[in-house]
Amino acid sequence: MRNIRRMGAVLMALALVLSMNLTAFAAVEDTGFADVDADDWYAEAVEYVRDHGIMNGTTATTFNPDGTTSRGQIAAILYRASGSPEVSGGTAFTDVADTAYYADAVRWASAHGVVTGYGDGTFRPNNPITRQQLAAILWRYAGSPAPEGGADYADEDTISAYASTAVDWARDTGIISGRDGNRFDPNGRAARAQAAVILHRYDTWEPPIPEIPDPEPAPEEGSVLVAYFSATGNTERVANAIAAATGGDLFELTPVEPYTDADLNWTDEDSRVVYEYENPDERDTELVAYTPDNWADYDVVFVGYPIWWYDAAWPVEGFVTENDFTGKTVIPFCTSSSSGIGESGERLAGLAGTGDWLEGERFRSSASDDDVQAWADSLDL
Ligand SMILES: Cc1cc2nc3c(=O)[nH]c(=O)nc-3n(C[C@H](O)[C@H](O)[C@H](O)COP(=O)(O)O)c2cc1C
Repeated sequence: MRNIRRMGAVLMALALVLSMNLTAFAAVEDTGFADVDADDWYAEAVEYVRDHGIMNGTTATTFNPDGTTSRGQIAAILYRASGSPEVSGGTAFTDVADTAYYADAVRWASAHGVVTGYGDGTFRPNNPITRQQLAAILWRYAGSPAPEGGADYADEDTISAYASTAVDWARDTGIISGRDGNRFDPNGRAARAQAAVILHRYDTWEPPIPEIPDPEPAPEEGSVLVAYFSATGNTERVANAIAAATGGDLFELTPVEPYTDADLNWTDEDSRVVYEYENPDERDTELVAYTPDNWADYDVVFVGYPIWWYDAAWPVEGFVTENDFTGKTVIPFCTSSSSGIGESGERLAGLAGTGDWLEGERFRSSASDDDVQAWADSLDL
């Protein structure tokens, strides 16, 4: 199973090959491209991306290895590789015309958080992709895995904050190697040959199988509950890890009307979240169930939620207001892209009115099981 879906081989135009001069013909024999010699460091990668339908030549007989790879092209490559699914949601960037060949790709990629644009509402599709942008895009496409961490690059302080974790991941996995002098060169452009090499490595990268920690001795059965709301799965992963670390039971807070990608698009002023955010009276999200079985048996209740606009996402509120927490220890936790937990735990405690609420914990959206385990251990439940 490869990371980029097989899209079918590119058919070479034989007639054009036959019409080439002798020198070119030797190279074509080797790689299929007149400008890619079989000895070139990127030859194998170029053949791979061509044979797997990931990148095409710029003509039937040339690959143009030194050419530019644009941001729009990278979006189009990943979108094609994902089977060109129907697009809903996503940002309408001011400089992406509906008719552009990459229009659906950019919308799809922004709806899935694979690309973000610039603060001024543009995507700048024709800009050459930089090495740190490519790292960030592939990392998000891979599901934002947690890197191992390790040594810094000599030019670490020139890597933008948004790409820092992605660059660590790209180095750990070997998908993007550094340049001479232990530099990452974050703003260097990724020429087509380099893009081919990176995409080849990405597609043949086997994500490590996570080590399964020895099970902790489970606390008394049924005494811990991990209740959570999660719109896109990040809080759910943390909730699962807390339940694994504490032997707790999981209880998902599921809205009767789940939030779709389009509902969650906070950059769209007509989206459901923006409407509910701007109209607090409309935030009373009906849940499929408010109280788990055996509620009375739980001594410790974790309450998890994503941060929305610096506060607890409101679908969690029904759970907090509908239950009596008297005699229970309540521990809030949240995930967010960058904001802290802020006052959200205190606010939920106020809404509940009962229970002994401890200080909560914020996890980054891509928190690892180890991060969660370390925190759960520190609680000494
Ligand atoms: C409507 C909305 C508002 C958000 N607001 C913030 C915010 O203020 N600060 C932040 O760091 N992240 C914010 N995020 C990002 C989420 O907190 C983050 O992706 C979280 O991990 C999502 O958790 P989930 O996958 O469990 O839904 C927001 C996301 C959405 C959908």
